[in-house]
Amino acid sequence: MTSRRSPHRLVPAVSAAPQSRATPWPAVPDDANALAANVWPDAADRDEHGVLRLGGIPATTLRERFGTPLYVLDEDEVRARARRTLAAFRTAAAAHDVQARVYYAGKAFLSTEVVHWVTDEGLAVDVCTGGELAVALAAGADPSRLGFHGNNKSVAELERAVAVGIGSIVIDSWIELERLAAIVERRDAQQAVLVRVNSGVHAETHDFLATAHEDQKFGFTLQDAAAAVARIRELDGLTFVGLHCHIGSQIFGTAGFRESAARVVELHAALLEGGDVPVLNLGGGFGIAYRPEDDPTPIEELATGIVEAVARECAVRGIPIPNLAFEPGRAIVGKAGVTLYEVGTTKPVEVDESFTRLYVSVDGGMSDNARPALYGAQYTARVASRTSDAEPALARVVGKHCESGDIVVDAEYLPGDVAPGDLLAVPATGAYCFSLASNYNYVPRPPVVALRGGEARVIVRGETVDDLLARDAGLTAPTEGNDMPVLSEGIETK
Ligand code: LLP
Repeated sequence: MTSRRSPHRLVPAVSAAPQSRATPWPAVPDDANALAANVWPDAADRDEHGVLRLGGIPATTLRERFGTPLYVLDEDEVRARARRTLAAFRTAAAAHDVQARVYYAGKAFLSTEVVHWVTDEGLAVDVCTGGELAVALAAGADPSRLGFHGNNKSVAELERAVAVGIGSIVIDSWIELERLAAIVERRDAQQAVLVRVNSGVHAETHDFLATAHEDQKFGFTLQDAAAAVARIRELDGLTFVGLHCHIGSQIFGTAGFRESAARVVELHAALLEGGDVPVLNLGGGFGIAYRPEDDPTPIEELATGIVEAVARECAVRGIPIPNLAFEPGRAIVGKAGVTLYEVGTTKPVEVDESFTRLYVSVDGGMSDNARPALYGAQYTARVASRTSDAEPALARVVGKHCESGDIVVDAEYLPGDVAPGDLLAVPATGAYCFSLASNYNYVPRPPVVALRGGEARVIVRGETVDDLLARDAGLTAPTEGNDMPVLSEGIETK
């Protein structure tokens, strides 16, 4: 362990924590360098110099090769989680003599490489916009193994989906139903569809992530869904294959899923009176640990609990269990991702007489991870370039954006000598960080590097300021031999 003297006098008194914080105050760790197994990728450790290694590669090497901020995605871990999740749902379904299909929810993190990984491992893919569809198709995914969601799919998006022979479209509204009916009629096509229902179950999660409240934009109410299915069954070009329900995201227990399954199976049973209903899609939403104290239900337990709930509800009604489909996103990629930042400044801020908080500013922030600002999401962090036995200081890791809510890690104990130039790693950033990234304050979005077998390679290149300027129509037309204004040579505007 290397040690540095703390440049700050810090009083990280637990009892003096500000009252405004909604979540429990983190405990003072025994070791502020430790990598909690539930939040870091399986292949994360520290080398003999104390440097964090990801997939066997020192974080310092990653910084030298790719710079910071940097999204690092452990391909081996994504693949392992895809296999494990598929096996969990298949095994749970097989115990009841039905099949389970697992769609990877691309919104969590989508690139052509990730599509290759998950489809290699036997997953189908769920997309929810024309853009996501384009990525999946560009990756060479089999269109018949794609599902298409979304509450406002445009005519063009639906046309494209039908034209490429997409496996299923999840109908979300009356208008979309008629829109799609017109498209299939015009193209003389046949399209398998599901109907998204809003089961009315409030998932045990942050309000914004719960999508099965009555008062929200997704799907049909249980009452309207039956009428929508009746309408679909009148139409030659649409084949109704089943109901779809997604109750929310980052859900830890099975209670919400079980309650929702009970309500949806009731409708499913009623629909059997009018024809086949071969599939029931129960969506995604399986939670992961973001902080060491988080304790989500293991995926095998969730899978068994949900499938058993469906089986029970079917038995009560004397109906066969349908084949099942699930759409995990976060559970596949979340824990495989780590974001590396470089510390730029540190600043002790006296919150009150007994409590000083150490602000640690990094070279990214809400543009590469909007989740803390959007949902109050809590993360953990570690100094990646070294270990230190300096007294732990209660830190807030913040970004470089012009907002006080630009927080990366709200509260974490870091070695009190954390200093400019240190590398800082934030784990569990594989889901909904890259996909929610923005260019706020004209900060270019970071590259994504994939790790496999001790090798690192770029799977999405980082943006440059020139990429950003390339969209600015106020700049002059490109000059010969120089397609874009090059920032380092000065920006020519006329
Ligand atoms: N299926 C549907 C219909 C969905 O809407 C979603 C997520 C999923 C599957 C995948 O959910 P997952 O297994 O990844 O939880 N940006 C938020 C999460 C939004 C989730 C949107 N829908 C976050 O960062 O927590």
